[in-house]
Amino acid sequence: MWQSLFGRSAEQDNTVFEKLEGCSLPKHTAIIMDGNGRWAKLRGLARTAGHTAGVNTLRNIIKAAVDLKLEALTVYAFSTENWKRPAPEVDFLMTLFYDYLKKEIAEMKRDNVKLRFLGRIDELPIKLSQLAYEAVDELKDNKGLALSVAMNYGGQDELLRAVRKIVAINKDKDREITLQDVENNLDTAGLPQVDLIIRTSGDLRLSNFLIWQTAYAEFWATEKNWPDFTPEDFIQALYDFSHRERRFGGVEAVKC
Ligand code: FPP
Repeated sequence: MWQSLFGRSAEQDNTVFEKLEGCSLPKHTAIIMDGNGRWAKLRGLARTAGHTAGVNTLRNIIKAAVDLKLEALTVYAFSTENWKRPAPEVDFLMTLFYDYLKKEIAEMKRDNVKLRFLGRIDELPIKLSQLAYEAVDELKDNKGLALSVAMNYGGQDELLRAVRKIVAINKDKDREITLQDVENNLDTAGLPQVDLIIRTSGDLRLSNFLIWQTAYAEFWATEKNWPDFTPEDFIQALYDFSHRERRFGGVEAVKC
């Protein structure tokens, strides 16, 4: 199972992954890929160099998620608040996302990755939003890893949009709005709740990411900046997750 992972020998892979044997893996892992700017600053480079390096990390982590046969992975690429960054950095990021997507669609198709975007995709630069819709369509029949990329995404904004949709759908109906109504109208509709949320580069906050879906998520953080985050770190997070006791508000441990 691990033989294709990271282009290493089966023996090396087995050593790294044998600790995951028998572990319960999260159904849905979400990652806040933070610290690109700090990574670049430490090296005397422009912040944009950190974002470029971050793309490689993302590619490696998606590959690991595919090889581990994870069900769902969601990554935070650009928040509704990130527009406050200097225009040249925002422009650079939009081009980086476009180039990444263009390059990766074929590979994702081969890897059976099903793609979706969370957030206000239609408010991104037109070339990028068109490509995003094309990519989703191209990969719609895939049945493997459910990869979600949050771009121009904010958790509060997502909830507000869901509430507006629910109000519109139910305006002439006399019925109670349920938790399921909310679930059904989020950008993540149909995905499992987030079990594990990973944040790199040391800050311990949610930053408006998946605020509904992480209600009972386990938090895992590392001081490493995103470009330094490796598949082994990812495995460590999964391993640690599998040893957490989750009670979901009750007193008994619930088996994941
Ligand atoms: C956070 O680092 C990172 C981002 C806002 C952009 C995330 C983008 C990537 C990881 C590139 C790959 C993504 C895709 C979808 C191709 P920061 O700039 O906030 O770092 P800092 O906190 O050190 O300043």
